[in-house]
Amino acid sequence: MKEQKPELTLVLIKPDALKNSLTGYVLSQLSEYHAGLRFAAAKIVNVPRMLAEEHYAEHQGKPFYFSLLDFIQGQDHHPDAPEKRRVIAFVFQGPEAVQKVRDIAGPTDPHVARETRPGCIRALGSIVPVKDAEGKVIGHRMDNLIHASATVPEAEREIKLWFKPTDIPPLMRPYPTVISDQHYYYHNGRIFTTYKPGRILLMAPGSIVWKSDIDAIHAIREGRPAACTLESVAGKYLINEMPESA
Ligand code: RTP
Ligand code: MG
Repeated sequence: MKEQKPELTLVLIKPDALKNSLTGYVLSQLSEYHAGLRFAAAKIVNVPRMLAEEHYAEHQGKPFYFSLLDFIQGQDHHPDAPEKRRVIAFVFQGPEAVQKVRDIAGPTDPHVARETRPGCIRALGSIVPVKDAEGKVIGHRMDNLIHASATVPEAEREIKLWFKPTDIPPLMRPYPTVISDQHYYYHNGRIFTTYKPGRILLMAPGSIVWKSDIDAIHAIREGRPAACTLESVAGKYLINEMPESA
């Protein structure tokens, strides 16, 4: 019988949930007992701009794109306290993990969530007016507490964006890994194989890495088209490396 690969999904507990102390509530809704899913990975993340941009790449060009980046970076909830700007990132694993978490999360808009799916996580969210410098309302922000991957391929893209293979126990990893062939460093949108101050180590010889990441690095270095951007490879290695202002 062909072995079924486990299904994984990415969940982010967003800055509004952390600020309002709803982390425990969200996790109890997603507990093994309620959701029938297992924790596969977890980390506390001060979100680098590059990671925010890659995560929300599908929304580039939309009117709310830049406010979404500020929001996920925690700038809206902690304008004067950068040390409090965090999200908590989780990977959950189990049968139909993507759809189960989307159902528990509920509709994107908290008002719609309250009307149509009372009891879902996002029913506890809020809609916040966005104002310009003069105080004029120019849009709105949806503080909807959690992110949940929308599809199985999106979950794979997002999990590889936020997590290294070694963040996930080996038997829970469904995506191919390889051993890095050499040192790779990142600086200012470029990849290097030698260290200089300011360059961030992505991987060393012997590191276990996503196969798709190393394929992309090789393609980029050889000037061939790559399946993903260098930023989507490097983003997870920049997590918690240095303050955003550095
Ligand atoms: P998410 O990605 O956060 O799990 O949410 P989703 O799939 O339900 O919604 P999506 O369309 O991917 O939107 C991503 C996030 O952008 C914010 N948003 N604001 N102002 C607006 O019209 C608007 N539309 C979307 C929300 O925070 C949403 O979660
Ligand atoms: Mg989405």
